[in-house]
Amino acid sequence: MSSLKNRKVIVTGAADGIGRALALAFAKEGAQVAGCSRGKERLDSLANEIEGSGHVFFPADLSKAEDVRAFFDKAHGAFDGIDILVNNVGAVLKLGNFFEVSDEDWENSFQINLMSAVRLCRMSIPALRKSSCPRIINISSIAASHPQEIFPHYNAMKAGLSNLTVSLAQTLAENGICVNSVSPGPVWSRSWEQEAEAQKNGQSLEDAKNSIMEQTGENVPLKRMGVPEDITGLVLFLASEQSSWITATNFAVDGGLTRNPF
Ligand SMILES: NC(=O)c1ccc[n+]([C@@H]2O[C@H](COP(=O)([O-])OP(=O)(O)OC[C@H]3O[C@@H](n4cnc5c(N)ncnc54)[C@H](OP(=O)(O)O)[C@@H]3O)[C@@H](O)[C@H]2O)c1
Repeated sequence: MSSLKNRKVIVTGAADGIGRALALAFAKEGAQVAGCSRGKERLDSLANEIEGSGHVFFPADLSKAEDVRAFFDKAHGAFDGIDILVNNVGAVLKLGNFFEVSDEDWENSFQINLMSAVRLCRMSIPALRKSSCPRIINISSIAASHPQEIFPHYNAMKAGLSNLTVSLAQTLAENGICVNSVSPGPVWSRSWEQEAEAQKNGQSLEDAKNSIMEQTGENVPLKRMGVPEDITGLVLFLASEQSSWITATNFAVDGGLTRNPF
């Protein structure tokens, strides 16, 4: 995708999972990537693996307003501009039902799943307005449109993020800034790895992983869980010039799980 060459991209939560796959994929297309996560070690390993030069990796806790500011300043200062903002960071934080999540759990979920994106959008918009091909892509979840009983705080925040995508797209349409969300289905990543560790009950970690993958994949029409690389193609397309008449839209990438014809 030649239109991504030299484009300046922010990817939050870039050290693992979907964020890492996105950082690697953007860099492969010749883009410059600014990525963050809390842990420095995984960011360093990403920095060693990523293609190209001029990337910026910065440890920051995006549930904190001051860290969002510090990360944004670092990225914007290094790039002198932003073309694409990918609000990827997000976390379930607690696997509980309605009665098991406290006010504090709701507040924590709000900060990382919604406010990190709100703040980064607000900070990035002046730079995006100067870009020739500006894009905001929010990584939401099928949990936004198809919530289950488990982790209602996360489901509600993702619904908020998908909803914000549509209102912000209208606000920014006059600037030609396209704003869309991508909603993954179950994608094998670190949080699922932690789930396997918790559920292994005497089995090996490999067996626990395989059994989660099999059970989860069984409900997916394409009969497998996703991998982070399943999400990159659509995000790269939405970031490119080819998507210039697509905005205010949510796209499920879920192996057919949600089966929504509209
Ligand atoms: N995987 C799925 O099944 C799935 C399904 C639907 C939607 N999603 C969404 O897709 C996005 C990526 O998910 P994933 O499963 O790929 O994630 P993941 O593998 O758990 O990785 C999350 C990344 O974000 C970083 N991170 C977590 N909390 C952070 C914080 N407070 N501040 C800064 N960085 C933070 C983590 O690094 P540190 O821990 O070092 O900070 C890590 O690099 C999320 O928005 C998630 O909700 C995932």
